Amino acid sequence: MSNDNIKIISNPDEVQKISRKWKTEGLTIGLVPTMGYLHEGHQSLIHKSCAQNDRTIVSVFVNPIQFAPGEDLATYPRDLDADAALCASEGADILFHPQPSDMYGEYFSTHVEVDDITQVLCGKTRPTHFKGVTTVVSKLFNISKADRAYFGEKDAQQLAVIKRMVEDLNFDIEITGCPIVREADGLAKSSRNKYLNPEERKAALVLSRSLSIGKQLLDNGERNANVIRNSITQEIKKEQLAEIDYVSIVDSVTLKDVDEKITAPVLTAIAVKIGSTRLIDNFSYTV
Ligand code: PAJ
Repeated sequence: MSNDNIKIISNPDEVQKISRKWKTEGLTIGLVPTMGYLHEGHQSLIHKSCAQNDRTIVSVFVNPIQFAPGEDLATYPRDLDADAALCASEGADILFHPQPSDMYGEYFSTHVEVDDITQVLCGKTRPTHFKGVTTVVSKLFNISKADRAYFGEKDAQQLAVIKRMVEDLNFDIEITGCPIVREADGLAKSSRNKYLNPEERKAALVLSRSLSIGKQLLDNGERNANVIRNSITQEIKKEQLAEIDYVSIVDSVTLKDVDEKITAPVLTAIAVKIGSTRLIDNFSYTV
């Protein structure tokens, strides 16, 4: 259902005033946090939120504190008009688009930090990243007063970190994970795919292709994590433009490495640089 009356709001207090009013009216609120440049992956989250809640707030905010110096904060793609059109077409009610100064005032000094599971996988090369994510997401929960929030399984570690935070800090919100949306040829949709030139775009298929090999091994009964990890690694190494950051098979809950026999649900997650673009992909498997 499209919504021609979608409001684009930059002021957090203004959004909070509206969400407070909705709550007093007994309406349920869904929140979809994003950094914009929306694609069908984001759209699937917005779609679900609109279907499951009376009101939906989509945030579009390229959150500076989750980027380290030297990362792509300045070049991160932006297209607010297209984002607003997509949100409206799905029936969202508010597009919350704050400026960094709206979110982080002059004296800002409070952060939310999850230990342990933020130090593995992407946390190894991006040690401050998840602290920025959990801080901004906490703010978005408080501003939106959402009953439910929607996150993609594409960022499996982020989803696990948010679930940990919500449980640990008793946030009164339900977290829904949504399946990875892919291009027809298998590449997971990502705003960062825009950085790839045609040659790199082809090379990027090595992520989904190598994961399919790992999944096939599991389907065929292979349970040795090292064997599966090696097969994925070998496949990626065949691609000249690819440089491996990590290939990991971890316990789905603790995100600790599984080195030998797989006996519990696992997450197989990879991060690979294609040229200068770092891409991630994963699949979950229950034995
Ligand atoms: P962003 O990368 O814009 O992603 C916003 C949400 O869309 C995340 O929950 C992400 O997992 C989901 N998503 C992205 N690509 C997807 C795909 N191909 N299939 C399914 N879901 C997909 O993740 C962030 O922004 C930020 O870290 C944020 C949570 C907004 C905090 O700043």
